[in-house]
Amino acid sequence: MQPSSDAPILLFDSGIGGLTVLAELRRLLPGAPVLYVADNAGLPYGEKTEAQIAARVAGLLGRLSERFAPRLITIACNTASTIALSSVRDVLQVPVVGTVPAIKPAAALTRTGTIGLLGTAATVRQAYVDQLEAEFAADKRLLRHAAPGLVQAAEARLRGVAVDESAIAAAVAGLRDQPGGDSIDTVVLACTHFPLLLDRLSQAFGAEVRFVDGAAGIARRIAHLLEDQSFIRKSPDRALFTGDHAGGAALEAALLSYGIEQNDRF
Ligand code: DGL
Repeated sequence: MQPSSDAPILLFDSGIGGLTVLAELRRLLPGAPVLYVADNAGLPYGEKTEAQIAARVAGLLGRLSERFAPRLITIACNTASTIALSSVRDVLQVPVVGTVPAIKPAAALTRTGTIGLLGTAATVRQAYVDQLEAEFAADKRLLRHAAPGLVQAAEARLRGVAVDESAIAAAVAGLRDQPGGDSIDTVVLACTHFPLLLDRLSQAFGAEVRFVDGAAGIARRIAHLLEDQSFIRKSPDRALFTGDHAGGAALEAALLSYGIEQNDRF
């Protein structure tokens, strides 16, 4: 059965990182109604245990599904996807698209054979990442580093706060200072927050380093799954926050630049 034309695509993240996925989605499906949900009461996911993340994400997505009947859910968060995607799919009827660290495209891109990966602490320790490495980068060197400071810096930047350069420097050093780190020519941004800092990361790593993230691939996957469906936007797209987002006018302007006209508490 086709969903109703105004059923939203629900994009879910712990914070504003999923907006980087929304930006790519807008390019492909500009007419699609979107509901953006930030579980900022639970941010940062990267510092939580696997059990905490799995319970939280499954519970929230279950409630959101009942309440808003989305046509599709996108977990626009590497941490939540690498931990909870399969269990969420098991319990929800609605199609669920996840976010996979872009190791495969990075392996195709690297010339030196050394890839850096920046993610949250929870993501970089996942067996899911080990599997991607074994499948797509077995003949490469993959250096991983957890960069929680970048999550905070991205959240702050969208609220109009200057980028914390020490967080950028720590992320660069965390990869470069590992054995072989000098040879990194490709960096996987394995957290949806990090492309919001791409200009700074690129400056700090140097012009020879290229960056890959999963956003465009996820958007293509969503568009493919919905290719036979029609879209009507009956009300402005909005964001829901599970906690006090304390962003004021700067955050509202940033949300508006992604087509989000309204925000509320959930
Ligand atoms: N945006 C999330 C990700 O892609 C993580 C941020 C957090 O630690 O909550 O992993």
